Amino acid sequence: TKAANGSGNPRDFIAKMKEGKKRLVIFYGSQTGTAEEYAIRLAKEAKQKFGLTSLVCDPEEYDFENLDQLPEDCAAFFVVATYGEGEPTDNAVQLMQNLEDDSFEFSNGERKLEGLKYVIFGLGNRTYEHYNLIGRKVDESLAKMGAVRIGERGEGDDDKSMEEDYLEWKDGMWDAFATAMGVEEGEGADTADFTVTEMETHPAEKVYLGEYSARALTRTKGIHDAKNPFAAPITVARELFTQTADRNCVHIEFNTEGSGITYQHGDHVGLWPLNPDVEVERLLCVLGLHDKRDTVIGIESLDPALAKVPFPVPTTYGTVLRHYIDISAVTGRQILGTMSKFAPNTEAEAYLKKMNTDKELYQHVVGGGCLKLGEVLQLAAGNDIKVLPTPSNTVAWSIPFDIVVSAIPRLQPRYYSISSSPKLNSNSIHATCVVLKYENVPTDNVPHKWCYGVGSNFLLNLKHAINNESAPLINENGEERTAVPSYLIEGPRGSYKNETGYKAPIHVRRSTFRLPTNPKSPVIMIGPGTGVAPFRGFVQERVALARRSLEKNGPDALNEWGQISLFYGCRKSTEDFLYKEEWPQYQEELKGKFKLHCAFSREVYKPDGSKIYVQDLLWDDRAQIADAILNGKGYVYICGEAKNMSKQVEDVLARILGEAKGGSGAVEGAAELKLLKERSRLMLDVWS
Ligand code: 2AM
Repeated sequence: TKAANGSGNPRDFIAKMKEGKKRLVIFYGSQTGTAEEYAIRLAKEAKQKFGLTSLVCDPEEYDFENLDQLPEDCAAFFVVATYGEGEPTDNAVQLMQNLEDDSFEFSNGERKLEGLKYVIFGLGNRTYEHYNLIGRKVDESLAKMGAVRIGERGEGDDDKSMEEDYLEWKDGMWDAFATAMGVEEGEGADTADFTVTEMETHPAEKVYLGEYSARALTRTKGIHDAKNPFAAPITVARELFTQTADRNCVHIEFNTEGSGITYQHGDHVGLWPLNPDVEVERLLCVLGLHDKRDTVIGIESLDPALAKVPFPVPTTYGTVLRHYIDISAVTGRQILGTMSKFAPNTEAEAYLKKMNTDKELYQHVVGGGCLKLGEVLQLAAGNDIKVLPTPSNTVAWSIPFDIVVSAIPRLQPRYYSISSSPKLNSNSIHATCVVLKYENVPTDNVPHKWCYGVGSNFLLNLKHAINNESAPLINENGEERTAVPSYLIEGPRGSYKNETGYKAPIHVRRSTFRLPTNPKSPVIMIGPGTGVAPFRGFVQERVALARRSLEKNGPDALNEWGQISLFYGCRKSTEDFLYKEEWPQYQEELKGKFKLHCAFSREVYKPDGSKIYVQDLLWDDRAQIADAILNGKGYVYICGEAKNMSKQVEDVLARILGEAKGGSGAVEGAAELKLLKERSRLMLDVWS
């Protein structure tokens, strides 16, 4: 439509806003889509509450220098994530430069935003050092230029409480917003974002059945990235734990031949998983769509600037639930309020409203119980969530499908540190993935059940299917399942098997986690558990280099090389020692320049009986470590769990460096670590 596309300069958001009578511009800085989702939610709420429409903007697509032209009755929103070590997301790099660089000017030739009204919500993660740094910087810069913030600055913690932080912040913000903008609540209305049409006749080959890219069906050539993942054939999938009674770790290899995909050691691979059978069935039943799973639907956005259809269409109901939306996550509190309007009876409505408004109850029952949306709807209507759902045992809710599409977030890719080097494996990407599985906390109404990580269990299922293993897998209902999930059975497009084998959609995300180019620099790598993944890639990288050097310069070629040390930890040398059989070969090829230090936490103990972890090995080796870092200009890398391990490792490193500098320890050491980080000689790839 005209309003959506605008006329004239497509980068001029002011013109677009005027044309579409929009009073809010919402910029999002988003890497994986979360900030974008919150931006869209704010836009929707502004419309529902006050009848105000918004332009939701990727800052890369607009001329930021026009911001000073924003009319007085308008406001600018910033929903910005902080990424990695205090960096902006890729799409907000320029925006940050504009805000912080003194030579940048707005269209009036000045660096002033006098009286501009703005709202800010930052997304960050408390386990990282620079919590919400970007949100704070944006806030500070805007204020410095004379802009006036509406309400408090919101900050969400991705580690624990993003959703709750958002919910807690937004009500106060909207109150302040109403005052600042001179608007009143109740002026808006519940409006749909999409229209969904069932299509009776549509050529089957033009229906998306799990393809992620709108290019996939037309077979248009294009680079493979997050917007166009590559369906990579899987050449190897094997179990890495030798003792697998209750724990699994999958080694998987994706073949990238002919895809044009390239990667570097230390990059991440994004894997697009599927929702498990039982969740798809559950929601099909709850939505009364059990017999319509293959019905072809078209979905159109009523306001493309506000809400894009988040997946390619036409598609089918079944495909949306299987591939495109995240029905396997613990459901959010706000969705329950939305769904209460469609409850089949007053009890169910009351149940959802209570969960929606009572935060403690929600956290206790839904959070602790690890409940998905389908399960909460079942419980609200009095269904037993442990019985396999069928149309006859499940109350059907009449929830319009457009509501489902706008309320449930899109299924996002899962990222894994790549565990190979392209120099040894030019046509394949390896990943190393421990399988996530835990028990919920049952309450009165909620029975005990197992909770499964979507990405890692998808890989485990693939591994079983590829190797024809009939190893029993416990499903969500606590039942043993030996059958291969339906999406892995050879069949139509959209299944993950074809005549040549299995495949899964992937793309590569670049990182800065890289070895120094000069092999003379000593390297210290710390990666217990699956934190070892990128370091297998690092070591392979060096092995490839060593082979070339030895061939070219003879047997002494590595003499000048720095030592590379890997500090690895696992429970037992006989149970979960990852890539145990590969390390000796790498050691041999690297001619003594590679040293492996292992902490077997449930095999060898300290004299007082306590566990030995990687940080204890670092301390034992402190003289060499201090020498490598301070005198050898060495590089340090930490990969793995963020909250405990990586913190404790940093503490020990600080102590080692502080002591070596002759000080009392902590203070000098911390300063030294900070310096190392600034010089990119201490790098982290950690997760919580
Ligand atoms: P544990 O499970 O015996 O406590 C990989 O998970 C390895 O990391 C295991 O040996 C595990 O030991 C260990 N680990 C657990 N917590 C850790 C921490 N805070 N620091 C370092 N290693 C830790």
